[in-house]
Amino acid sequence: MTRLIWLALSLALSAPVAASDGVSGDRERELRNLLIQDCGSCHGLQMKGGLGPALLPEMLQGKSVEYLSTVILHGRPGTAMPPWRSLLSADEARWMAQQLLDRNLQ
Ligand code: HEC
Repeated sequence: MTRLIWLALSLALSAPVAASDGVSGDRERELRNLLIQDCGSCHGLQMKGGLGPALLPEMLQGKSVEYLSTVILHGRPGTAMPPWRSLLSADEARWMAQQLLDRNLQ
């Protein structure tokens, strides 16, 4: 039984992302934690800024998901913003960008 759960879990985690915005429920929880804990360490737990700029929807107005997810994946060379492409797929980076735009962090 436990093996089955693990199998299902590893399938879910390794499956190519294809759903609506490409992120499964479990991965969604992981990404939310990453957003609050890792991104939050620079951008603030509430994304109100710190070492990095605030990432509130009003600050990001007019910026596209494509633009934001590119910054997330590749970082900003020459600044403290690190690249996340070794941890996040393109779909996941887009999902994160959408979360920031929607301010849907909880
Ligand atoms: C070590 C500190 C640090 C961490 C960790 C960090 N950032 Fe950043 N981030 C920055 C800095 C500094 C900038 C501003 C770079 C500049 O001056 O252009 C930035 C810029 C950005 C921007 C561009 C904002 C804009 O208006 O152009 C986005 C989006 C962003 N970060 C998202 C994230 C996300 C999502 C994470 C977590 C996966 C994250 N950052 C983690 C420091 C960090």
